[in-house]
Amino acid sequence: MPKVTYIEASGASHVIDVDVDENVMHGALYNNLPGILGECGGARSCATCRCTVDAAWAAKVGTPTTHEERESLEGAEGELKPNMRLSCQIDMTDDLDGLVVHLPESQF
Ligand code: FES
Repeated sequence: MPKVTYIEASGASHVIDVDVDENVMHGALYNNLPGILGECGGARSCATCRCTVDAAWAAKVGTPTTHEERESLEGAEGELKPNMRLSCQIDMTDDLDGLVVHLPESQF
C-alpha cells in the first residue's frame, strides 16, 4: 500500500498507508491527523483540506485539475502557495508511493 508523509506546520511528520483509489484527504481523516479538516467531504467547496505538495513531488502530482479546485484554493483564507492542492483531489496511485505533503498552520 502506498505511503504518504504528512508534515504539520510544526514540523511533526506522520507516515500513513493510503489505499490506492483513496485520496490524500481521506488518508489523513481516517487516521485522525491534525491539520486536514475536509469539511465538505471532497466536494471541492470548503478548501479545508489544503496541502502543499513537496517540491520533489510537484511535477508528478501536477497542478489543480479543475476550475472548481482552482477557485476553491484562490478563495481560501491564507497564502496561496505554489504547489498547493486540495488533498481531496489527489487520488492515490502506486506511482505516488512516498508522496510528501505539507499542511498549513491553519485551514482557516
Ligand atoms: S474536502 Fe472540501 S475541498 Fe477538499
